[in-house]
Amino acid sequence: MAKPKVFVTRIIPEGGLKVIREYCDVDLWVEDLPPSYEVLLEHSQACDGVVSLLTDRIDAHFMDSCPQLRVVSNFAVGFDNIDIPSATNRGILVGHTPGVLTETTADFAFALLMSLARRIPEGIEYVRNDQWQTWGPMLLMGQDVHHSVLGLVGLGRIGVEMAKRARGFDMRVLYTDMYRREDLEASMGLEYASFDDVLRSADFISVHTPLTAETRHLLSKDAFSKMKKTAIVINTARGPIIDTEALTEALQNGVIGGAALDVIDPEPLRADHPLVNMPNCIVVPHIASASETTRTHMAEIAAYNLLAGLRGEKLPNGLNPEAVGTLRQTLPRTFEVL
Ligand code: DGY
Repeated sequence: MAKPKVFVTRIIPEGGLKVIREYCDVDLWVEDLPPSYEVLLEHSQACDGVVSLLTDRIDAHFMDSCPQLRVVSNFAVGFDNIDIPSATNRGILVGHTPGVLTETTADFAFALLMSLARRIPEGIEYVRNDQWQTWGPMLLMGQDVHHSVLGLVGLGRIGVEMAKRARGFDMRVLYTDMYRREDLEASMGLEYASFDDVLRSADFISVHTPLTAETRHLLSKDAFSKMKKTAIVINTARGPIIDTEALTEALQNGVIGGAALDVIDPEPLRADHPLVNMPNCIVVPHIASASETTRTHMAEIAAYNLLAGLRGEKLPNGLNPEAVGTLRQTLPRTFEVL
């Protein structure tokens, strides 16, 4: 019995790859840079499954060009690179990797907050440049994190973990979200607020919402104008939630205090971009979930989603379980080995 054919669009940790290799005929993209859309199509068109990354656009045209495709397993919690309704309409199952990266990402978001508030990158530069002559009473004074106000834009899993960390620093935590979480207000002392109130009141504004048509450029020129002049914005969600041009202007003109960005629009950001060279801005290359343990867990989850999809079963972490009922009927073969 033939093994299912799958395209894995980049090298992922071995914990997941070995599971996939055991059961599938694997085409693994080994380059450092992602395949172009055309190359992605070419490699996937005869495949039963694809393990995709957030850099791979999986749209309706892609799905129509891959007639055997049963499952797309995204190696990420975010899935704005995939057209889920089109997948569902075509009976293609889609999976992602939630849960395992929640705390790792929140740790990183809090680290960004602390680094910028306390001017750690500037301190490192100062010593590296051999500027350190003596202890200075006025040297590199930053903002206190403890007892300050954290504003969360989005209170999903990662937002909640961010709130937990903030409580350890005696911060007041405001959140805005489509859904009110009265349970967490009671148990964690969180305060529900309108988007504008979060913008006006917070010392630190951390973004934890998915990228959708509604959240694209949620943090715009108008939003920055409502923030405190000292406010620091942290983004570990998706770059386009912040209007990069508006942010650059806001920092250049002293409208807000700073920004710490794991994600940015566009990615990658070139080194000559003004944001990269501002002392009150940190840009890092989308690494918030990049701990060895977490990335290994993500790979395992992606592998198990893939295998379940190839069997035509509900994925352990699926985004469109309703598609199980409408799986492509014309699939040419079954995979007993799975
Ligand atoms: C995700 O999973 O969506 C992150 O952006 C990468 O871990």
